[in-house]
Formats: sequence, C-alpha cells, structure tokens
Amino acid sequence: MRVSVIGLGYVGLVTSAGLAEWGHDVVGVEASEARLSLLREGRLPFYEPGLDELVGRHGGTGRLRFASPAEAEEEINASEIVFIAVGTHDGNGGWQTDTACAALESIVPHMADDATLVIRSTLPPEFVDTLAGIVREHRRDHGKGAIPVLLNPEFTREARAIQDFMHPDRIVLGVIDDPEQIGVERTQRLYEQAEAPIVVLRGLDAAFSKLGANLFLATKISFANELAALCDAYGAQVDQVVSAMAYDTRIGGAFLRPGVGFGGSCLPHQVSMTVKAAMEIGIPTPLLAAVDHINHRQRDQFVERITESVTDIEGAKVALLGLTFKPHTDDLRDAPSLTIADALLKRGARVVAYDPMADAAERAAELVPGLEIAASVSDAIADADAIGLITEWPEFSEIDWTSARGSVRGAAIVDGRNALSPDRVAEAGFSYRGFGRGYAPASEAGVLQPENGRTPIAIQPDVGAVSLPATAIPAQSMRLAERVGRSD
Ligand code: UDX
Repeated sequence: MRVSVIGLGYVGLVTSAGLAEWGHDVVGVEASEARLSLLREGRLPFYEPGLDELVGRHGGTGRLRFASPAEAEEEINASEIVFIAVGTHDGNGGWQTDTACAALESIVPHMADDATLVIRSTLPPEFVDTLAGIVREHRRDHGKGAIPVLLNPEFTREARAIQDFMHPDRIVLGVIDDPEQIGVERTQRLYEQAEAPIVVLRGLDAAFSKLGANLFLATKISFANELAALCDAYGAQVDQVVSAMAYDTRIGGAFLRPGVGFGGSCLPHQVSMTVKAAMEIGIPTPLLAAVDHINHRQRDQFVERITESVTDIEGAKVALLGLTFKPHTDDLRDAPSLTIADALLKRGARVVAYDPMADAAERAAELVPGLEIAASVSDAIADADAIGLITEWPEFSEIDWTSARGSVRGAAIVDGRNALSPDRVAEAGFSYRGFGRGYAPASEAGVLQPENGRTPIAIQPDVGAVSLPATAIPAQSMRLAERVGRSD
C-alpha cells in the first residue's frame, strides 16, 4: 500500500520504518531541514534500538523515502493512507494543536478523493470532536469531497518501539468520519501483518483509550511507590511483596517497580495535563492528582536520602549513575535525574554524573548548570561521598563494588530504581538504601537509622530480615512496630 507519514519525530519515524518493513511503500515527510538532511545521510535524530538498521535497510529497498512538504505533494496525492504524526506538546507541560492544524491545512487538500487520513498523534480530547469539521472544510475550500478520517493512537514504548509496533497487544482505530467504513477497512488491511486484535471505536473513545492506558500505567507506578513507603515503614520487602502479588492475574507484575518515579515524554505530561484540563471543566481528579504528587515526591525523597547519607551535603561529592529517563534511550524529557541533580546542586553538593549515552549526558549538563559529566562510572564515583543510581542501565549491575569501595570517600549508595543487589553492595562495605527495601548502614550492620526521621528500619543484608531496636523508636513508631509484631 502507498503511505505518507507527516512528521518524522519518534512516532512518525517508527511508524514509517515499521510499515516499510511490512512491505508498504512509504514516504516520510518532515518540515525540519536539519532533521531531513540527517535522515538523508542515513543518521537518526535520536537513539532507538534497531531503528537505524530498519531505516537503512528500507532506504536501500527504496520502500522508505524522505521528503520535505514541498517535495511531497505528488507522493501525498498518490498515497492511499496519509498518517499525521506531528507533536502535540507545547514544550511547557501543556497541549498545542497548532502544528497539527498547520499540517492538516497543508496536506488535506492534496490528498486523493479515495485516500484515508489517519491521525497518529496523541490529541487533547476537546480537539477530537473538531477534527471532522476541520478536514471537511479544507476539502471543501479546494472543491474536493470528504475523505475518511480516523485516529490510530500509538502505544509504543521507547527502547522497545520496533517490537511494540510490529507486535502490538492491540491496534486501536477511532472513527472520526467514515460513514462507508472505507477508511477502517483499508487501515485494517494496512495492519494485517501485525496479527493483533483491531479494536474499532468512536474517535473520542479511541483517544481516551490511549490516555486511559497511560494514566493507568502511571497510577500503577505511583501505587508501587506508595506501597514501597509502607514497606519501608513496616519493614517489609517490596520486591518480595510484588512478586507474590504478581501471581494474581487481575494484578500482574508489570509497572510495579518503585523508585524515583516515572519520566519521559508521555506519562508525566499526560497525568498533569489531564488533572489540569479536568479542573478547568470542573471535574475533580483526586486519584490522578495523587499519582502526580507521589511521582514528584519520589524525586524529593531521593534527594533527601542522598542528603541523609552524607555528613554535610554542602561540599559533598555526589555521583549520579544514569541520566536518561529510562535505559536504552537518549531521551531526557522529564527525566527525574534533571530535577534531582538540580536540587542537590542547590543544596551545595558537587554533582558528577555518568550516563552510557554520552550525547544525552552533554545535553543534561546544558540543561542543569553546574552538573559535571564523567566519562566512566569509575571517574564519576572516584572520591564520591555518596552514589545515587537513577537509571537502571545494565552496566550498573556489573559494577565491581568491592574495588569501587577503595576509590570512594563515603560508602553510601541510594538506589533510585531498586536495581542493585543490596547484599552485594553491603558485602562490599557500602550502606544501601532503595525504595521499600529497607537499608543497611555498612558501618553499623544491624544498627538502625531513622526513616525520614520517624520510623527506624534496617535490613540484615544477608537474609533480608528486619529488626526495629526499641531504643531508637519514637512512641508512634513503637505502636506501629507492636502492631506488626516486631518490637525487638
Ligand atoms: C510510555 C507508555 O508505556 C507507552 O505505551 C506510550 O506509548 C508512551 O509512554 P515510555 O514513556 O517510552 O512509554 O516509557 P515506559 O516504559 O512506559 O516508562 C515510563 C517511566 O516509568 C520511566 O521513567 C520508567 O523508568 C518508569 N517506570 C516504569 C517506573 O518507575 N516503574 C515501573 O514499574 C515501570
């Protein structure tokens, strides 16, 4: 099938390459000259595992070509399906539809009378109902008839985007304007190799199915963080708790890993925007407001834990491991690392970070004035007073903590992703603190430190057993310890 994809950002480029891989004939249309010339040189504007190979391969087969909007008129006219995949963030935590409106204005009049328009961008709900009218008007203004208009939200995760595109759990089609179902039938054929259930919904319902999925995932993470706080207070081990919960098929084990919380381009933005937009129409969303609040609290707690782990944060060297919002990406959008580094610098710490994505690390240093970048883990942790893990890159689980112990000044590790083995780091002589896992001060194995200044808890590194010393427990926590049957 002949397809045009308007907008070669993350979503558009993955969609273009995936469709070419299925044998479709794709032209990707990009307005930014800089991005277009990069792509024409065979280089990608961002990192996504496997995408460069796919783009290169189909540049070679000729099934994936790149064009500017001016060059693409004929291709657009010859396309059976035209995807719009332009950005809808305003770069400031809000929505913007100006780019989508401009794309519609320039593309829709050139589309063939029997072509289908498919919007892949995530849209604010109030914009969805205006779409049919906008498209019909552009067609009418150019003396052309109506065309089918659909939504096709994407559910791709960064770092797994190709897998998610080629083998999705489901494909959602939202009908905006398709009285004869020509557009639905054609788009179903486009996706037939995905071998996934295709769910056809009203347009607004499709938009909400995307929003709902992201809001639920964010809720799961904040729930896990709340659970971790309870585990810390009572002395339970969140990893063990979740592993048992996960056997319940109603719950599942995914997206229940506590730590510094969710970042990235989708989850934080969609939670905060939904809360804000709902408030504007008088709909309270207390659950989502709490999800947002907990997510930000996690970053603060990480900073607090680092601060508590050193004698004086002023002048202390803090090594941060990982800057990207998750591993296997170079994306720093709403990355917890940025707010954490900034907060530590404001407390007077010297902050030195290492991330395997050197380019991302350099960009982070531009975004957070004062942040220093190290070329390796060992450079970052040399003479550090405390080490904080923020992104669970696989190489961090390979660190030889015994030899690392010889190069640091202070022996404290705060694990913001529960990614390290508390036993291994404790054996190497470090104190360890994660989220919902208790912690073990190395210098006083078995001696307990106050949790947030209130509830003292410790973990025996070898067996994971928890004990609460009566001497160190304030009255309120003592009652808590008695209730859970641990007051030794
Ligand atoms: C998300 C959605 O998963 C995807 O379906 C949608 O299309 C785009 O937004 P993405 O932003 O790529 O994808 O990342 P995701 O894997 O969802 O992780 C988001 C954030 O949550 C990351 O910062 C990650 O570290 C964090 N996370 C994830 C947790 O803190 N705990 C978890 O258990 C899972």
